[in-house]
Amino acid sequence: MLVAIWAQDKNNLIGQNNKLPWHLPEDLRRFKELTQHNILVMGRKTYEGMGKKPLPNRQTIVLTRDVNYDPGDQDVLVMNSVEEVLNYAKKVEGEKVVYIVGGAQLYKEFEPYFDQLLRTIIHHSFAGDAYFPEFNYSVFQKVEAEMGIKNEKNPYDYEFETFIRKGKTSGKKTKKDLKELTEEEIEKVKDKILTALELVIDPELGIDIVNLGLIYEVKFESDGKTTIKMTLTTMGCPMADVLTDQIHEVLEELVEVHKVEVQLVWQPAWTTQRMSRYARIALGIR
Ligand SMILES: NC(=O)c1ccc[n+]([C@@H]2O[C@H](COP(=O)([O-])OP(=O)(O)OC[C@H]3O[C@@H](n4cnc5c(N)ncnc54)[C@H](OP(=O)(O)O)[C@@H]3O)[C@@H](O)[C@H]2O)c1
Repeated sequence: MLVAIWAQDKNNLIGQNNKLPWHLPEDLRRFKELTQHNILVMGRKTYEGMGKKPLPNRQTIVLTRDVNYDPGDQDVLVMNSVEEVLNYAKKVEGEKVVYIVGGAQLYKEFEPYFDQLLRTIIHHSFAGDAYFPEFNYSVFQKVEAEMGIKNEKNPYDYEFETFIRKGKTSGKKTKKDLKELTEEEIEKVKDKILTALELVIDPELGIDIVNLGLIYEVKFESDGKTTIKMTLTTMGCPMADVLTDQIHEVLEELVEVHKVEVQLVWQPAWTTQRMSRYARIALGIR
């Protein structure tokens, strides 16, 4: 999974002199919490802005066109193209989340590939010289917005937002003649979706995703015709992302259903750090 993570002010500003234009410890804390034990990909300028010092407990990858680039740290990987990073992301798929952590050039170049966006908006104007690029948000769906804590050390109004890429398979489904769905058919669709969700989890672990609370609620509302609305409340973004793909794959096969709206709802302030130990093992999150 490829995730963009950044903080910006209300004018899309993200940097000043190769540094962050603000000091917002709560945002840094969240960044650390989310990215721990995962992969960070950054542009050469951002890396140098950090004094060529990789953050601990995360694999750092620096992107540069300089094939002889010396990152000054033997644990840092150097890559020379977007494709190289994408191939790496494919290799670690399911095990690690690959976070594109800036700067402006990288957010633009990886735009077509993001599965998820984690944006912190600071409702304030700062001075600076680097801006988040033009970006097509219409292919993403905002699924969470949570106000950050404001206090002496974090003296701004700011918000954590999560977007996920809209269903990749939607629109491809064959539309058969519409017909009313019976209660029985709705139950069948529910079963298919739940079975598919169970498959997301390693069956050998025997994890019961519903009872463990990985999924809070699966709610179907039928209009008695062809639409099923499904509300799924999960604990964390990584889980929800896997689930969205899985659900759409299943829905693709359900020709009897004309339209299924899948709405993912996350509990505010729930993060992977707060998942139960079993849930974390099941999802391969350390
Ligand atoms: N607010 C935030 O969340 C946040 C996060 C990160 C960064 N920032 C800010 O963003 C600013 C830096 O952004 P930036 O756009 O100037 O620089 P950048 O994206 O950090 O780095 C750009 C460099 O990355 C390399 N690169 C880019 N595309 C490449 C490709 N396709 N293949 C190989 N190498 C590639 C090139 O390195 P070479 O020149 O060596 O070839 C290029 O000069 C800073 O102000 C920083 O503080 C803000």
